[in-house]
Amino acid sequence: MQNSTPQPMTGHPVISSTGLFTPQDVITNEELVASFNAFVDLHNARNAEAIAAGEVEQLQHSSVEFIEKASGIKARHVMAKEPVLDPEIMAPRWEERPDDEISILAEIGVKAAEEALKRAGRDPKDVDAVLCAASNMQRPYPAMAVEIQDALGIDGFGFDMNVACSSATFGIQTAADYIRAGNAKSVLVVSPEITSGHLNWRDRDSHFIFGDVATAVLVEDAAVAPEQHWDILGTKLKTVFSNNIRNNFGFLNRAHPETEGAPDKLFVQEGRKVFKEVVPMVAQMILDEAERLDLDPTALRRLWLHQANAGMNRLIAHRVLGHEADADESPTVLDTYGNTSSAGSIIAFHKHSEDLADGDVGLICSFGAGYSAGTVFVRKVG
Ligand code: COA
Repeated sequence: MQNSTPQPMTGHPVISSTGLFTPQDVITNEELVASFNAFVDLHNARNAEAIAAGEVEQLQHSSVEFIEKASGIKARHVMAKEPVLDPEIMAPRWEERPDDEISILAEIGVKAAEEALKRAGRDPKDVDAVLCAASNMQRPYPAMAVEIQDALGIDGFGFDMNVACSSATFGIQTAADYIRAGNAKSVLVVSPEITSGHLNWRDRDSHFIFGDVATAVLVEDAAVAPEQHWDILGTKLKTVFSNNIRNNFGFLNRAHPETEGAPDKLFVQEGRKVFKEVVPMVAQMILDEAERLDLDPTALRRLWLHQANAGMNRLIAHRVLGHEADADESPTVLDTYGNTSSAGSIIAFHKHSEDLADGDVGLICSFGAGYSAGTVFVRKVG
């Protein structure tokens, strides 16, 4: 006898296209270090007596050589260069916009999303949902995703999700699950990252790490996707609690006004521990997922890894591919973008994927605070 219950319309998720917005302003390591060192000299001169009395710590200069050797970063894009480099400010600054004007985070998200829609030939009215997946939201509500949805003219729903540097891959799996379940055919995953707002530009250990950018990924049902697309072969997410990357900023700080604005209300990390703990965790996760998907990891055509540190990527790629990866196998955008949090692996994919051939298999992989990690194995079609 036939089952009379209606079956859900399940779909097969693919990546139809990506989009990228890059801010015009660039800060080189030389400019960054000159500004940081000017701040250090000012601090030390202003506090000379207290430093001599052992009451205030004497600050040390930063160095271009250290930054490049320790991280691989040579420059970064930012939304507001002047105030970041001003030793008396050292933070981004812009006019607060009225509520009837699009907010700055939504604006750059829309620019990236528009490029993704254009590249896929997709009309916004045919998109079902917008996920704003990023680690640096501008406000708690209304959701950034709903504002982006409105600006693009999409009739559907949107919500924000924050899994720090892994937000984009978590967003891709969430979008893929909507498609697999038949709840949507076209989902935009937008990652606007104005990381310059959470970076402590006065902290020698981390002032060089981050940059600003926005990316978008259009995840769709293969049935409606453009002829050329990326088949999503499998997605996997993992989280393990750690305090080694942390930011205590939040509206509950107002309950403790004396600690509002303290350094722990910005990005703080134990970089060495992160390096040591995350590399083996992510490499193993990739190998396990490749096995589950019956893929030979050594045959992967390209790895689009999270862009936090060149050394971490070198080690992870080596463990996965079984040999030292070259720039073609594991491209970097760290040198010119810095760490752009969740957007990093998507920028790498956006800029370094067009040359792949029909049937080539690659991996988009993110990792970061939480700890969190996400893998998206893809195969080029067309
Ligand atoms: N300029 C010059 N020297 C500096 C410096 C700077 N800006 N910052 C630190 N140093 C010095 C330190 O004082 C230390 O000196 P010492 O050996 O005399 O004590 C030395 O350089 C090494 O410092 P350390 O912090 O241990 O450097 P590192 O090699 O671990 O590199 C990171 C630092 C942050 C680049 C690296 O640990 C990293 O990228 N880790 C992973 C981070 C990550 O992925 N985070 C995710 C963020 S989302």
